[in-house]
Amino acid sequence: MPSVFLKTYGCQMNERDSEAVAAQLVAKGYALAPSEAVADVVLLNTCSVRDNAEQKALGKMENLIGQFRKQRPGVVLGFLGCMAQSRGRELIDQLPDVDLVVGTQKFHRVADYIDDLLAGRRDKVVDTEVEQGSEATIKEHLLTGAAKDKAVTAFVSIMQGCNQYCTFCIVPYTRGLERSRTIPDIVAECRELVARGVKEITLLGQIVTSYGRRVESRGSKVEGQLLSTLDPRPSTSPFVQLLDAVHAIDGLERIRFTSPHPKGYGPDLVEAYVRLPKLVESAHLPVQSGSDRVLKLMHRGYTRARFLEIIRQLRAVNPEMGITTDIIVGFPGETDEDFAETVSLAREVEFDNAFVFKYSQRRDTPAAAMPNQLPEELIEARHAQLLAVINEIAERKNKACEGRVLQILVEGPSRKNSARLEGRTRANKIVVFEGSERHIGQVMDVKIVHAAPFTLYGDPAILN
Ligand code: SAH
Ligand code: F3S
Repeated sequence: MPSVFLKTYGCQMNERDSEAVAAQLVAKGYALAPSEAVADVVLLNTCSVRDNAEQKALGKMENLIGQFRKQRPGVVLGFLGCMAQSRGRELIDQLPDVDLVVGTQKFHRVADYIDDLLAGRRDKVVDTEVEQGSEATIKEHLLTGAAKDKAVTAFVSIMQGCNQYCTFCIVPYTRGLERSRTIPDIVAECRELVARGVKEITLLGQIVTSYGRRVESRGSKVEGQLLSTLDPRPSTSPFVQLLDAVHAIDGLERIRFTSPHPKGYGPDLVEAYVRLPKLVESAHLPVQSGSDRVLKLMHRGYTRARFLEIIRQLRAVNPEMGITTDIIVGFPGETDEDFAETVSLAREVEFDNAFVFKYSQRRDTPAAAMPNQLPEELIEARHAQLLAVINEIAERKNKACEGRVLQILVEGPSRKNSARLEGRTRANKIVVFEGSERHIGQVMDVKIVHAAPFTLYGDPAILN
């Protein structure tokens, strides 16, 4: 059978989509190639969130074309995902050797399209259509974890799209409007994963706090079903109803989710951390800026004070709460004072870690047309300055773990050194330790003997 190599750019949602595509191909009998050099089909699952992510994928495709044109002209080349969605046919106009361009609502069609291309039934495929119900098509899992057939953690896509329209963000255009899967559908997938040995599930969506909220207005069949599975007189939001349902699955040890939005972060979600022991004390909550003026220009829908209030509530529930965030520096018109507010927010919150992004102008977004786009050098300088602050705090917080006993879920061989194992604490810090294969999948206590800037080193033998 032909073999496929899939390379993924961007976020965890993209990783998840790629896994589902790979699983669909495997189910059809395709092999997964260990490298592009020996594959019959090479697919790039793309990201559009910043320009450099697009440039990387384009550069990679040019490189593949150069590599294959002479020696192996029959190799099928394709773009999937966000950049495929936003650029469509334009990608084939630009790179005529590309055979396939499939957008974000058509991942489940990829395997059939590849059959057609390989069999010569089609010459080129461009499919960036909107498809009702496509949110429920990302279901299949490969479950080949670090140790063979023993995946301990899994990601489950609960919704697609985003309606928030932050002024800098291309996601609402590449991923479409918010569409949520039903609770029974999601729970069935989670149950199946747990039956296959998964211990930790991360629920995924672009804005999970909006899960199930946009149902009344649109009324498709799937949404009608969704509505019928939600509590008609809810005391909790649909997302918290989903957390409750997933929490009830026997054998599941840990639940995480990403990403919530501060705007939809209600008291019921804070309270879920109190009620639900499997919901580990870890929160990724994108803040983007510490300046109210910039937050407003970004159309974020909350203030600095409101964000700080959520953090206070989360830490009141559990002072051990691991908190990470996303921050953009260099948004159009960001002044020195605005930036100083972001730095001061980072110091005030003391994030366990943060992704710091340089603002990137995205086509068709309102921010791209705003006056006062900042020069690259200024953005670079602010990026370096904020990153230094974030890293200093992260290292200090890691250091504070030395000597403590922390609970980890062992995931498999360490990515840095495969002779060792690694797991993650409930607060989402990576711990590397000496162990044996039988530890994989176990929840265990380890004593932290050393803290490097981004990794903790533990010893399970010296618990006292
Ligand atoms: N809600 C999604 C956001 C997807 S984009 C999630 O949290 O997963 C991921 C991050 O990329 C955003 O939180 C933001 O910090 C950053 N980002 C989005 N658009 C950007 C842009 N135009 N320039 C720089 N960073 C951007
Ligand atoms: Fe993008 Fe804002 Fe949605 S960052 S994904 S538009 S919440």
